[in-house]
Amino acid sequence: MEKTYIKDDLTIKWNASKCIHAAECVKGARKVFKPKDKPWVQPENDSKEVIKSAIDKCPSGALSYVDASANKKKNVGFEAAVMKNGPLRVKGHMDLTLHDGSKMQKDGFTAFCRCGQSSNQPFCDGTHKSVEPFE
Ligand code: FES
Repeated sequence: MEKTYIKDDLTIKWNASKCIHAAECVKGARKVFKPKDKPWVQPENDSKEVIKSAIDKCPSGALSYVDASANKKKNVGFEAAVMKNGPLRVKGHMDLTLHDGSKMQKDGFTAFCRCGQSSNQPFCDGTHKSVEPFE
C-alpha cells in the first residue's frame, strides 16, 4: 500500500513493500526521513531540493515523488549503461509509467532489473548476484 506526503507542490510517495532498507533517504535527508518517528516522513523539516535529492538516491523505487512544478519539464536526455551480470542503470529525469498504469518521476540513478528475478520489478533488488551469470 502506498502512502503519500505533501510538501508544497511536491508529492512524496512511499511504498513499504518495495523498500530494501538501503537507507539512502535517511543519509540524504536526516531531518525528513526518520525511521523511528511517526510519521517517519516529515517533509516540513527540509527543502524540496534536499528531499528530491534524497529520493533520487532510492535504489528500489520505494520512495518516489511527483513535482508539480517540474511536470512541465520534458524527458530530456538521459544516460544508460548495461551492467555485466547486472541491471540497466539509467541516469537522468524520466516520467515512468509502470505496468499497472501508476506513474512516478525519477531523477538521478535508477537500476532496472535485467535478470528477471527481482521481487521489486521493474527495479533491481540485488538478486542478480545469486543467479547464473548473464551478459
Ligand atoms: S538485475 Fe538486479 S535483480 Fe535483476
